[in-house]
Amino acid sequence: MPRVARAPSPARRCHRSLQRTGKAALALLVLLAILTACGRLPPPPVHPFLQEPFPEKLSDWHLFVGQSPRLQPNQRVIPYDLNTPLFSDYASKYRFVWMPPGTSASYRDDGVFDFPVGTVLAKSFAFPVDGNPGKNEERLIETRLLVHSKTGWIGLPYIWNESQTEAHLDLAPDPVPIRYTDSAGTRHDFTYFIPNANECKQCHENNHAVLPIGPKGRNLNKNFVYADGPANQLAYWTKFGYLQRAPAADQAPKVAAWNDPDAGTLDARARAYLDNNCAHCHQPGGTAGYTGIDLRVTDTGLRTFGVCKSPNSSGRVGTLSYDLVPGHPEQSILLARMTSIRPKEMMPQIGRSVVHEEGVALIRDWIQAMPVDDAACARNPSHPVPGARSRKPGL
Ligand code: HEC
Ligand code: HEC
Repeated sequence: MPRVARAPSPARRCHRSLQRTGKAALALLVLLAILTACGRLPPPPVHPFLQEPFPEKLSDWHLFVGQSPRLQPNQRVIPYDLNTPLFSDYASKYRFVWMPPGTSASYRDDGVFDFPVGTVLAKSFAFPVDGNPGKNEERLIETRLLVHSKTGWIGLPYIWNESQTEAHLDLAPDPVPIRYTDSAGTRHDFTYFIPNANECKQCHENNHAVLPIGPKGRNLNKNFVYADGPANQLAYWTKFGYLQRAPAADQAPKVAAWNDPDAGTLDARARAYLDNNCAHCHQPGGTAGYTGIDLRVTDTGLRTFGVCKSPNSSGRVGTLSYDLVPGHPEQSILLARMTSIRPKEMMPQIGRSVVHEEGVALIRDWIQAMPVDDAACARNPSHPVPGARSRKPGL
C-alpha cells in the first residue's frame, strides 16, 4: 500500500518554519558579526536624546564602542584634553565631544564655544584598580554628560557598575569608597562624592544658565595624540568640521599647563590653575560671583584675586583677615581654604574630598613670590567695614 504522506500537523509546520527562520536569523547574525569584525559595518551612530525621558543606560547613547583598556569612542566622537584641568581627588578624566552631522561650534576668544543644539559633551572619571600599582589598570566610576537640548544644557550623571559593563543614570548617586596605592607607593583611602544632578549647577551655572566650562580656546590650544597622530586640538576640531572661525593655534590664546614649569611662569601657571579650579564659581554671574573675587585668568588686576580683601561672607578662617596677603601664604585665606577639607571652609566646597597637595604648593609659591608690602593691607580701602557685608543677590 502506497504510504500516503500525511500532511504535517499545524504545530509541526510551525515548528519547522521556526527552525528555518531560526537558521536564517542565525546565519544573518553570523554574517553581521563577520562584517562588523571586518570593519565593513560601522557601529550604530550616536543617538542623542534631547528631552526627557533620558535613557537609563549610557550605552543607549552609542557614544562608546568599548571600554577596554580605555573608553573607545564611536565615530564622530572626538576625545579632547585641557591645558590645565580641574582637580578631582586625583581621578583620571576622559573627555569627549560629539555634534550632530552638519553642525559645528562657533569659536569665541574669551569664553566657552557656542555649541549647536544636539551637542553631547562627556567626561568620565576613573581611579586605579587596587593592588596593581603602576599597572595602569583603572576602574571607571562615572560618566557625566552635558547635553545641549533646545531649552538649554542638561547635566546627567551615569554611574558605572562593578563589572564595568554599563553605566546607569542615577540622579542622586551614592558616595564611592576609593582605595589604591599609586606608583609612588602612596596609599589613597577616601570617600569619593559624585555630585548629584542638581549639584552640577553649583559649578556649571552662570547667570542661572547651565553652561560647559572647559571647551574654550585657551584650554584646548594644545596638542592631542589622536588615533591618527598628534595634532593641535583647535586645528583638528576645525578640520573635522566641529569648529568655525578659530584662529590659527599660534594666534589663539593659551593657558599654561599648571604643572609644567616649561609651559609658563609661576604667575601664568598659578592663574591657569585658579582659572580652571575656581573661576567657574568665582566670576561675575557665577555662584560665588557675589563674593567679589574674580579668579579668571583673563582678569588682569590682582586686586580681584582678593589681595588685601576681607572676606564678605562666611569666608573667614581662624584669625586670618584677608583673602590674599602678598608674600604671606600663611596669612592668606585663599590658600587656607584650599588646604582645608572641613565643610564650609574648604575650597572648592564641592567636587573634592582630599587636598590637592601639588596645587596647594603651586599657589603657596605664587603668593610667596609676590612683592611684599606689609603696610599694603592696612592701607587697603577694602578693610572690613562693620555692617557692610555684601549679600547674595536676591537674598
Ligand atoms: C566642583 C565643580 C563641578 C561640579 C560639581 C560639576 N562640574 Fe562638570 N566640570 C567642572 C569643570 C571645572 C569642568 C572643566 C574642567 C575639566 O574638565 O577638568 C567640568 C567639565 C565637565 C564636562 C566636560 C565639558 C565641560 O563643561 O568642560 C562635563 C560633561 C561635565 N563637567 C558634566 C558635569 C555634570 C553632569 C555634573 C553634575 C553631575 C558636573 N559636571 C558637576 C566643574 C564641575
Ligand atoms: C562650587 C563653587 C565654588 C568653587 C569651585 C570655588 N569656590 Fe570659593 N567660594 C564659593 C562660595 C559660594 C563662597 C562664599 C561662601 C563662603 O565663603 O564659603 C566662596 C568663598 C571663597 C573665598 C572667600 C571670598 C570672600 O572674599 O568672601 C575664597 C578666598 C575662595 N572662595 C577661594 C576659592 C578658591 C581658591 C577656589 C579654587 C581652588 C574656590 N574658591 C573654588 C564657591 C566656590
